[in-house]
Amino acid sequence: MRILFLGDIVGRPGYDAVTHHLGDIVKDQKIDFVVANAENAADGSGLTARQFKGLIEAGVHAVTMGDHIYKKMELRSILEQDPRIVKPANYPFDSVGRPWTVLRSNVTNAAKQTVDVAVISLMGRTYMRPVDCPFAAIETVLGQIPASVKVRIVDVHAEATSDKQMLGRFLNGRVSLVIGTHTHVPTADERILSEGTAYQTDAGMSGPYDSVIGRDVQRVLQTTITFEPVHFHVATDDVRLCGATVDIDVETGKATAIKRFEYKIK
Ligand SMILES: [Fe+2]
Ligand SMILES: [Fe+2]
Repeated sequence: MRILFLGDIVGRPGYDAVTHHLGDIVKDQKIDFVVANAENAADGSGLTARQFKGLIEAGVHAVTMGDHIYKKMELRSILEQDPRIVKPANYPFDSVGRPWTVLRSNVTNAAKQTVDVAVISLMGRTYMRPVDCPFAAIETVLGQIPASVKVRIVDVHAEATSDKQMLGRFLNGRVSLVIGTHTHVPTADERILSEGTAYQTDAGMSGPYDSVIGRDVQRVLQTTITFEPVHFHVATDDVRLCGATVDIDVETGKATAIKRFEYKIK
């Protein structure tokens, strides 16, 4: 099966690009299952309930988030009830949301059975709000997911490239894909690790690239140079959808190919 993973959807430009173009992309690239990180969809911070529904209608099967997950608390009931969105698995036990999900994909295997896909999100701990150990958290999660669920997607939402590389290596052979989010800049290190896990340090964002990680350049410069706080508007130009497409053997859960994905909006 072929998975499309989209990095952080940023603001209106990113959201509109996904909702307007995902259908064509899925058709052209023969995508079976779409996972999108949507933590920045609501004006750069959080995700609204309306946007969640819009992404699902546009063809997103599963949504991951990150440090902005609770910026729009109207999302609470969706986080509580809808299996198509997860919270970081190493967030506090009592925080709202499910630490992992398994969703049924339409793809069928050789035995003509539909394929179950597990989706998990983890947060890094370097230069970020302290959270539980992601290594311990993923061990717990992998112990809970049925062994029959071979296709497993892990979004590592982290500031440090080394955190993401460590989790990629740690999970090598145990999940199908480890892909980084949060830093909003695509990295050129996509590869299949030795035991069949596809890996990329940063998917890049789905949003405006004429920006500082999605925000208006002048506003960011102004506050950085003068220390005067200003609202960081989401930028508008050079919108691209970024991430990776990954081919996975549904019998083994091993990845057979990973390609960096970039789709420029005209
Ligand atoms: Fe983030
Ligand atoms: Fe982000």
